[in-house]
Amino acid sequence: MIVAFDIYGTLLDVASLTRALSPYTDRPSEFLTLWRAKQLEYAFMYAAMGKYEPFSSITRRALMYTARRMGVTLTGNEADMLVEAWTMLEPYPDVEALGAIREHRLVALTNGDRDMVDRTLGRTGVGRYLDGAYTSDMAGTFKPSPRIYRLVEEGSLLVSSNPWDIAGAHHAGLRTCYLDRHGLPMEELDVRPTMVVRSLYELHDALRTLTRGSAP
Ligand code: LAC
Repeated sequence: MIVAFDIYGTLLDVASLTRALSPYTDRPSEFLTLWRAKQLEYAFMYAAMGKYEPFSSITRRALMYTARRMGVTLTGNEADMLVEAWTMLEPYPDVEALGAIREHRLVALTNGDRDMVDRTLGRTGVGRYLDGAYTSDMAGTFKPSPRIYRLVEEGSLLVSSNPWDIAGAHHAGLRTCYLDRHGLPMEELDVRPTMVVRSLYELHDALRTLTRGSAP
């Protein structure tokens, strides 16, 4: 089976960006929350508008919006460095559990673009657990558009800590595993994940149960 992972927020801890933001604002957590929310909002808007540009550009636009809104002045170089910091996020410690899941094909399925994702997987070391990456440029759009989820074959499982991502994958006909890292409820969009785990250490056993359950 193909097991596809969301990257930002699922394998990599977005909160680790707080440190990179500290020199520019005395409210780095608030800044990051708004930056992340805008980054996703812009991706969703582009998907709805039928427009595409690399996720790194979207991330930069969201950064500039957040800076303006919070009264922070950034030079072009500082903005470039902060966008680049997305390729150096800290992996969650349980990512090492992927090393024990060898019987499945593990891939990334992400809104990141190829350049950004290649650098991210290389720099964070997470790439060593994956057999490949499906990126937004391959679909010309962003999750939660069904087009990007359909890059992986039917019956694949998407693992994500982002409830909106679980909703998108479910809508596109994939099986879903909600990695409940933050205690966030599922979206009120008639979505029931195929399975729920609290850490990647639980994924191994959950996959066993799933594949046993779907065997003829
Ligand atoms: C990802 C981000 C958007 O797709 O969570 O990796």
